[in-house]
Amino acid sequence: MATSSNPPGAQAAHGDHAGHGDPSPLVAMKSRALTGRFRPPGDKSISHRALIMGLLTVGETKIEGLLEGDDVLRTADACRALGAKVTRLAPGSWRVHGAGLGSLLEPVAPLDFGNAGTGTRLMMGVVGGHGITATFDGDASLRKRPMRRILDPLVLMGVQVLEQAEGGRCPIRLRGSAEPAPIEYRTPVASAQIKSAVLLAGLNAPGQTTVIEAEASRDHTEKLFAFFGASIQSEPHGTHGRKIVLQGRPDLKPRDVLVPADPSSGAFALVAALLVPGSDVLIEGTMMNPLRTGLLTTLQEMGASIEVQNARFEGGEDVADLRVRFSKLKGVDVPAERAPSMIDEYPILAVAAAFAEGETRMRGLAELRVKESDRLAAVADGLTETGVVNRIEGDDLIVTGGNGMVAGGGGPVATHLDHRIAMSFLVMGLASQHPVAIDDESMIATSFPSFRPVMEQLGAEFKAP
Ligand code: S3P
Repeated sequence: MATSSNPPGAQAAHGDHAGHGDPSPLVAMKSRALTGRFRPPGDKSISHRALIMGLLTVGETKIEGLLEGDDVLRTADACRALGAKVTRLAPGSWRVHGAGLGSLLEPVAPLDFGNAGTGTRLMMGVVGGHGITATFDGDASLRKRPMRRILDPLVLMGVQVLEQAEGGRCPIRLRGSAEPAPIEYRTPVASAQIKSAVLLAGLNAPGQTTVIEAEASRDHTEKLFAFFGASIQSEPHGTHGRKIVLQGRPDLKPRDVLVPADPSSGAFALVAALLVPGSDVLIEGTMMNPLRTGLLTTLQEMGASIEVQNARFEGGEDVADLRVRFSKLKGVDVPAERAPSMIDEYPILAVAAAFAEGETRMRGLAELRVKESDRLAAVADGLTETGVVNRIEGDDLIVTGGNGMVAGGGGPVATHLDHRIAMSFLVMGLASQHPVAIDDESMIATSFPSFRPVMEQLGAEFKAP
């Protein structure tokens, strides 16, 4: 039966994830071999963008495989507040009747994005391109994250920042522009969120908006714009960069979006299978967009047994099934220019590196300091707590591997409201000598609500402390 609300389980989690709920600690135990197959949930980046495209398009956008994590549900709520009718028909199957580009409603209440930096920043671009006022807010983690990087280009386009917390942080109240100026903008750091905010505001600009990035970041926004009928060109720029040119005010046409499985969520089972002796796991339907596969490249360099099977094109993206078997890993040097293609995967790579033979150096991780937590510090502290030798040198993290042996134990790892820190250290505990405890698993629901049952089905063992 059709329902216009978010899924019941996620709805319950919804209110708790403002960082005010009771923490829910969890312990991961040394597990038997992981075996079986599973499809990771829908890609988070594409899920946010699919809903937003639906909002900006008149008519019915159909979305299959939407991630029903808390972050994405917040974006669905924001789309409703801006005038879309957003309906969940069945698990993962959603419909959006959009308000249409140029015709958004002014939200009556502040938009609460919970833990979701992507939803906040993309929607700032959407509001920025319309003559409406909106307040953006979220949980304690979101309130610490830098937003000036989004506000700076939007102000150039004519957006007014009416209120902001110290340092350009949420809560932020913006007045968008009904006639945003088309600009040429060079992103100061490789960030798909900055690029996307400018392009989303540029959609309603009367003219050509150009974004130049020195290092290419994920290109889901560009692909979806083109899929919905916008005229957008992307060409190589410099050694690793792209130049993207968008013609404003396109006539967007509703489309059916099939969301591929999220490689950033699949990464946890993938590394777990590499670390737990005897494991053999098939991860199905994983997106293989080359701007997202840096972890695969790195793990293969480390000696991981990952077989790419059944490579195909699905929902506008390359996808494949990955057969992953327990492997002896060796330390490697991960170049800084690979960071944009694996930016969310460093916490789980650091766990893999802890089990490898020799040292792994991960270079150029400055951006990790401004994720859901200061991930560089959170990973280093978690490794130290669990007996793994590591150090930070400038923006590099260096992990000394235990050649298959990691102590684990120690006090609970502090997750700092960060889902990826939580999942990474739980994966460690499946293969370390002593169990690994984390202080709070609740944030996992932001990106991978089924993490625990999926991992348990593969053979992972968790318990409450
Ligand atoms: C995302 C971009 C990345 C990533 C985030 C999702 C996106 O952030 O860390 O989880 O969907 O655009 P930056 O592009 O700001 O590095």
